[in-house]
Amino acid sequence: MATRSKSARARVEVKEPRSEKKASFGDLQGPKGKLGVLIPGMGAVATTFVAGVEAVRKGIAKPIGSVTQMGTIRLGKRTEGRSPKIKEFVPLAGLDDLVFTGWDIFEDNMFDAASKAGVLDRYLLEQIKPFLQKITPRKAVFDHNYVKKIDGPNVKKGKNKMDLAEQVREDIRQFRKSSGAARLITIWCGSTETFIQPSAAHQSVKAFEKGLQQNDENIAPSMVYAYASLMEGVPFANGAPNLTVDIPAMHELSREHAAPICGKDFKTGQTLIKTILAPGFKSRMLGLSGWFSTNILGNRDGEVLDDPGSFKTKEESKLSVLEHILQPELYPDLYGDFTHKVRINYYPPRGDNKEGWDNIDIFGWLGYPMQIKVDFLCRDSILAAPIVLDLVLFLDLAQRTSELKGIGIQEWLSFYFKSPMTAPGLYPEHDLFIQLMKLKNTLRHLRGEELITHLGLEYYD
Ligand SMILES: NC(=O)c1ccc[n+]([C@@H]2O[C@H](COP(=O)([O-])OP(=O)(O)OC[C@H]3O[C@@H](n4cnc5c(N)ncnc54)[C@H](O)[C@@H]3O)[C@@H](O)[C@H]2O)c1
Repeated sequence: MATRSKSARARVEVKEPRSEKKASFGDLQGPKGKLGVLIPGMGAVATTFVAGVEAVRKGIAKPIGSVTQMGTIRLGKRTEGRSPKIKEFVPLAGLDDLVFTGWDIFEDNMFDAASKAGVLDRYLLEQIKPFLQKITPRKAVFDHNYVKKIDGPNVKKGKNKMDLAEQVREDIRQFRKSSGAARLITIWCGSTETFIQPSAAHQSVKAFEKGLQQNDENIAPSMVYAYASLMEGVPFANGAPNLTVDIPAMHELSREHAAPICGKDFKTGQTLIKTILAPGFKSRMLGLSGWFSTNILGNRDGEVLDDPGSFKTKEESKLSVLEHILQPELYPDLYGDFTHKVRINYYPPRGDNKEGWDNIDIFGWLGYPMQIKVDFLCRDSILAAPIVLDLVLFLDLAQRTSELKGIGIQEWLSFYFKSPMTAPGLYPEHDLFIQLMKLKNTLRHLRGEELITHLGLEYYD
């Protein structure tokens, strides 16, 4: 498992907050020591993230798309001219502090896995080859019934699921020691598991542990990693639409161990565009009669989603977005009867370079119809990698913040997810701009700054 050498550190161009800056973070504690990132699933997203962090550290490229690295936050009144960078406003770990490990059912190290994923070009990968080659996958917890389209040799054996969870806990402890990491975060970048509903084994920690002992079939591999992480006091983010930490047992464990959780399903590509456009239509009271979304993609994620069970998990996550944003119950004339269809087609020649088409049927004044067509030639993992980075840094911040570490679900991170987790009974907020305001206001709140409401009447007194 790789840690960064001194010589690599010397070439880093991204400036870290220096110690005198850390002293000015108010009540928030600055990060000390390394931050270890544990990644179940070392495929396209994970390798694009890790390779990207290393490329940025070496000054080869810039962290485009990362709110923690590029974003600013306005403070006080518009006349004050205070807009620090987010990473200078709250004490986030620096990129130089990150160390990585992961699990996968395939034995490829991160260089080989990244080469096969085909997202980043050979020229870039060659420049960071020795670093990526040192990150080799630990044996995975895997159950073919949960991901039907793939199978691999690098899998743990154990007498029951509790035994497998113990093995993952041992991996975590071993990595903590070997890397010298002061703090850890787990982020699921594994394949989308088949669709399951919450069941009895998910309802409490006690029932879940009994289920682990008895090999309950409703306990998915991703839940075994999540259980092991939370038991070790390690926060967990879920980048796929699987239930994983979105069950009462995990909410309980997260609060008990002061290990924050968030999910589900990174908001990239078509859903990102959907949550940008739909709030716009609603804000101008334009009606919607239909939204047809189809994709072609050819990466391994596409292959996994070719299985109806895994697709169902993804479909549920993608479909809920419009209902929540458009609120048909409040606007029956505009959104009471729209058709929403989502299709994913596995088409190998496309690789990671997905094409997402949207046909949007809207209507305006007096009900006159109009159409909008969107053809997004996107790169899935290029959109997902900065999300992984931000989630790692923000979850670490949450765990170092007394007000956030014991609350379980971090709803303020909804901005990054297709299917944001919320407290039971609360509907999720899907509007990207409300989500961003929630995120930034949380940061302002943590630093004791005034929340921004955009009322603005004070400028006209
Ligand atoms: N790329 C995006 O834009 C995006 C957006 C939202 C969600 N996601 C989700 O993120 C996940 C990763 O996407 P990707 O494109 O990297 O897929 P990928 O297929 O390239 O990588 C997933 C990896 O997980 C491994 N894996 C599967 N089950 C595992 C297990 N139990 N333990 C350890 N490893 C396991 C696979 O072998 C594979 O290497 C998928 O679930 C995908 O749906 C991706």
